[in-house]
Amino acid sequence: MTTILGIETSCDETAAAVVVDGLDIRSNVISTQVELHARFGGVVPEVASRAHLESINAVITRALDEAGASLGDLDAVAACHGPGLAGALLVGVSAGKALALVLDVPYVGVHHLEAHLHAAWLEDPSVEMPMAVLLVSGGHTMIVSMEGTGRYRILGQTVDDAAGEAYDKVARALGLGYPGGPVIDRIAKDGDPNSVVFPRPMLNEGLDFSFSGLKTAVMLEIRRNPDRPAQDIAASFQEAVVETLVYKLEKAADQIGARTLVLGGGVAANSRLRARVAEVAEKSGRRALLPRHDLCTDNGAMIAAAAHFRLLSDGPTPLDDGAMPGLVLPTIG
Ligand code: KG4
Ligand code: ZN
Repeated sequence: MTTILGIETSCDETAAAVVVDGLDIRSNVISTQVELHARFGGVVPEVASRAHLESINAVITRALDEAGASLGDLDAVAACHGPGLAGALLVGVSAGKALALVLDVPYVGVHHLEAHLHAAWLEDPSVEMPMAVLLVSGGHTMIVSMEGTGRYRILGQTVDDAAGEAYDKVARALGLGYPGGPVIDRIAKDGDPNSVVFPRPMLNEGLDFSFSGLKTAVMLEIRRNPDRPAQDIAASFQEAVVETLVYKLEKAADQIGARTLVLGGGVAANSRLRARVAEVAEKSGRRALLPRHDLCTDNGAMIAAAAHFRLLSDGPTPLDDGAMPGLVLPTIG
């Protein structure tokens, strides 16, 4: 039995979790900074680092308490070491390395996106490979072919804004606050998705995405028709994003012969996206693996899970490895 503490501080959630054998979540504590950043309309890196510093010890203590574990029970300590905000990553990496050093157990630095990919695995370890994974967050939008733990191929990605970023910017233009995704998701339920036909960017151009033109089209519409209800704009914008994401996910699944469609990242919490992925999966006889909300958004359980498999394949991360804000996903081609 391997018990790993996973720490995540790459952006605006301070999170820690205890996971046994990469699958069994004993605790998953998430302290969000959303309210701190809301008045600035987005994440302010310096504010994020300071907030991580203030809460990291308490979050780790709570994760251990809720798991009924003590520091002595840990077989390894893992922290997200990139990509992300430099100062924010440093807090988790420093805490993880210090604990590992004091406890004399391995330290494992984990790639943030590899961790998101493992959220699906946590949900159901019996899943069939290859899986077509749509990773959609505030910083990333990509389709990944996952052929096993540590075996990824990037099939497509955004050439400009990430999907979550588009949600956040459109919400801001509509005066809905930050983060935009959850609010747009909620109000779109009362709107008409056909009220405005927004462009479906790069729909027939391979598996890459582009969301900056769509965002501009929404801004122009808000300026031209200020009386159009925000619910209708939100629903129409969401329809354009979701249709594009789901169309390309299916295309990718056809290309690699995937039996399973998987969602990951913060935008994977979107109710319309989840419903559409479930629908198209059923139609094509595939499985849809939709991790529960607290495993979609940033969390420590996904870090501990990914760390379990990295420790088996690569061994401990050297303690002189630091935070790597621009780290790229290790792929097999
Ligand atoms: O993965 P995540 O927690 O952090 C990053 O690594 O970026 O993703 C945060 C993003 C934000 O842009 C937020 O607006 C979006 O996920 N998001 C959503 C929903 N919940 C969070 N977007 C659409 N619908 C949601 N329900
Ligand atoms: Zn994330």
